Amino acid sequence: MISLDLRNAKLNEDLSSWQEKVTKAHHDLREKTGAGNDFLGWVDWPVNYDKEEFERILALKKRMEGKYDTVLVCGIGGSYLGARAALEMIKGLYPDDGVEVIFVGNTFSHTYLTQVLNHIKDKEVVLNVISKSGTTTETSVSFRIFKQFMEEKYGAEAKERIYATTDKARGTLKELADAEGYETFVIPDNIGGRYSVFTAVGLLPLALANVDIEALMKGSYDAYKELDTADLDKNPAYQYAVARRILDNMGYKAEYFVTYHLQLTMIAEWWKQLFGESEGKDGKGILPTSACFTTDLHSLGQFIQEGSKTEFETIFYIDDMSDDIVFPSDDKDLDHMNYLAGKKLSWVSEMAFEGTLSAHSDDGNNPNMVIHLKDNSAYSFGYMIYFFFIACGMTCYLLDINPFNQPGVEVYKKKMFKLLGKN
Ligand code: PA5
Repeated sequence: MISLDLRNAKLNEDLSSWQEKVTKAHHDLREKTGAGNDFLGWVDWPVNYDKEEFERILALKKRMEGKYDTVLVCGIGGSYLGARAALEMIKGLYPDDGVEVIFVGNTFSHTYLTQVLNHIKDKEVVLNVISKSGTTTETSVSFRIFKQFMEEKYGAEAKERIYATTDKARGTLKELADAEGYETFVIPDNIGGRYSVFTAVGLLPLALANVDIEALMKGSYDAYKELDTADLDKNPAYQYAVARRILDNMGYKAEYFVTYHLQLTMIAEWWKQLFGESEGKDGKGILPTSACFTTDLHSLGQFIQEGSKTEFETIFYIDDMSDDIVFPSDDKDLDHMNYLAGKKLSWVSEMAFEGTLSAHSDDGNNPNMVIHLKDNSAYSFGYMIYFFFIACGMTCYLLDINPFNQPGVEVYKKKMFKLLGKN
């Protein structure tokens, strides 16, 4: 399902010299004995997930079928990125099934929120608010605005159309949801935001958006089984984790996550949050950044080719993307493009990938790794997410970092609250 190509990684060490450390960290992850172990619930979630709640998600979707054309998802960070990444990867940027998903709660931008309010005024809307803490300011601000919109539009029926995903028992959002009579879904105590896409955090919006969440969970399950080995020869997730550590030690302090399709840029955003929030602590970590080729070869390409040599590339390459176009022939050939006539655009993209790899690796001397994923199905998405979860846990443990907290995020909040006059 996933393979890792390290031929151009330019590592100065054999992966095998890390085997002993990997074996220990694998044990710490799987047996939940490592740092932050009270947040390792995601490890077994593909088998232990709440089946009753899963059925409730499917039932809700069925009950509301035909009653909405717009899904508003209100959340930020781990309560937002996974669902959006999935949606765009699996369904593309302009799905034609009559359901539009709009994300709010991830910004204070008054212009954006005003535009959303205008855009949805004549739509049939359902609203899913998602917050583990139940108190995140960006989410709470948006939620109050869109809750009022729903109440004005639907009156008493609004409560049938608003769903809250939050802590099972505690917090402001849970109390509000119970008081208003909203159906609630749970973010388990032992799963942190950025590891929560397989819970209702991801599954409810995705089900409402017609994504096959059963296939998605099957993908996560197969990854859970197949990647349950400490043997570095057999585990591409751990190979990736170790290769990052070797490159870090060699002085490469930034990692470009490179995609080749615009509908994968949110996967890159999700990946940046996963690795950035998990690894960037104690003055350590690799800066996670991203680029979408060939688009960004016309902006960042110059720097990557000839700029300072502190970064490596991890190319996330999907071998078989759905949809394709055969490039048309033109009798006049005024644009001199007939040399591509009859070729598929997927082939053009593949040649661009190979040419760029060679330019950056051979001429630019940049280390490159390529992660190949079979296709952009819901199943593959589920598999890929688990791959990155376990790779991230491993690479952080190898760096002696607790991947499951984010103490640094609180600093801006404190300063902002003071300015906002929050007690
Ligand atoms: O990964 C994390 O824990 C964070 O990015 C959170 O998901 C984010 O801050 C949103 O938090 P909450 O779900 O409590 O609103």
